[in-house]
Amino acid sequence: MASNSSALGSDAEITPLLTQPLPRDHFPDGTSNPDIIYQILSEELLLDGNSKQNLATFCQTWESQQVRNLMDLAIDKNLIDKDEYPQTAEIEERCINLLADLWHSPGKPVGCSTIGSSEASMLGGMAAKWRWKARQKAAGKPTDRPNMVCGSVQICWKKFARYWDIELREIEMSPGNLCMAPDAMLKQVDENTIFVVPTMGVTYHGLYEDVAGISRALDDFQARTGIDIPIHVDAASGGFLAPFTSPDHEPWDFRLERVKSINASGHKFGLAPLGVGWVLWRDVADLPEELVFHVSYLGGDMPTFQINFSRPAGQVIAQYFDFVRFGRAGYTAIHGSSHEIAQYCAQEIGSVDGFEIIHDGAPSKGIPTVVWTQTEGSDHGFTLYDLADRLRMRGWQVPAYPFTGELAHKAFQRILVKRGFNREMADLLLADIKQAIAYLRLHPQKAIPSPAQQGSYNHL
Ligand SMILES: Cc1ncc(COP(=O)(O)O)c(C=O)c1O
Repeated sequence: MASNSSALGSDAEITPLLTQPLPRDHFPDGTSNPDIIYQILSEELLLDGNSKQNLATFCQTWESQQVRNLMDLAIDKNLIDKDEYPQTAEIEERCINLLADLWHSPGKPVGCSTIGSSEASMLGGMAAKWRWKARQKAAGKPTDRPNMVCGSVQICWKKFARYWDIELREIEMSPGNLCMAPDAMLKQVDENTIFVVPTMGVTYHGLYEDVAGISRALDDFQARTGIDIPIHVDAASGGFLAPFTSPDHEPWDFRLERVKSINASGHKFGLAPLGVGWVLWRDVADLPEELVFHVSYLGGDMPTFQINFSRPAGQVIAQYFDFVRFGRAGYTAIHGSSHEIAQYCAQEIGSVDGFEIIHDGAPSKGIPTVVWTQTEGSDHGFTLYDLADRLRMRGWQVPAYPFTGELAHKAFQRILVKRGFNREMADLLLADIKQAIAYLRLHPQKAIPSPAQQGSYNHL
């Protein structure tokens, strides 16, 4: 007799689940067969974008089987619980030491893992605010009008400034000035400046800001005014690139005495899976004691200064695996090929009539991203928003978005080249770009939707 049940359950159990929508508004009353729910959910998730074709994100979309296994081993480990998981705590500490070495820390390194660069920059910023407040108080000066100075920054700095009541003095872009220039920066700083934040790999175009030049300008400012303004480097992407693929770059890290803290995203070019960032301070004195909380209720004395309490440990363990497994040679090779492929794409995209390359992904200039725009003054018959839209039909996410300041009216387009985006993929993308442009030229578009009108997320 034929059975009416399978590995997924009996037909009577399966059928209602397959013919009814999953709960959307009401918490379900009963239980459901986990295999069937797994099947339905995994199929629903196919509607998400395909991460291999997501050239908008800075985050890694390729992980080895060993990393997956380590993440599995660590699924029940809570990073905060250092008493219960001392070996994981030890591994986090080793990562901090290795990063301190990579970024030329002069003394005993102090830092922590975070959930990403957003939390890391928040911690770096809080430390700067507290240090500035202490200095002002000691001098009998007011502490109610702090400001920070930066170029066109990622949204995390706007959040930091808003949450902590800090005036954000953002130097926006103008033609020929895509990065924060030292002289423009100097016009913005004063004794209420808690710090200046240059970015190693500006989110909009990937270029490295001139950290050394900014540091020299602040040295000169201090010599003239006596005001000592520290630097925090947002090295979300560049912190894991410049040391490997641009070792002769002018110092941008703790080699500059004025650099008091650095953040970077382990889950970007650190090659770790999503959910890990890092912040390091130059010296223990740069991390105010008031920001360090001591926890005793998990056993032992645990100093903590991250914002979240509980957090997954797997990403930190996987990060350590990557450091050991790749070493300097591996990171140099992996990121070196990303730069090479970016430059190849830039050459091809730059040869399209009416396209102008803003950053070609050269390692001396910035991160392996290619950014382009359309030349001004002629009617191209389509916009980069149209091109982005057309490429989505083939599954590619290649965002178009405006820059800032005087360039806020103009559209730019970007691809991030990361591990896993090989020459074969690059050729497929380039063929699709050329085909999409040929179509758009044959069928000129009239509407020019902004990202807001498109309702899209633009990764800035
Ligand atoms: C320069 C810069 N800083 C900070 C961030 C935020 O990083 P995370 O996504 O790790 O929080 C990003 C993200 O793209 C970035 O590009």
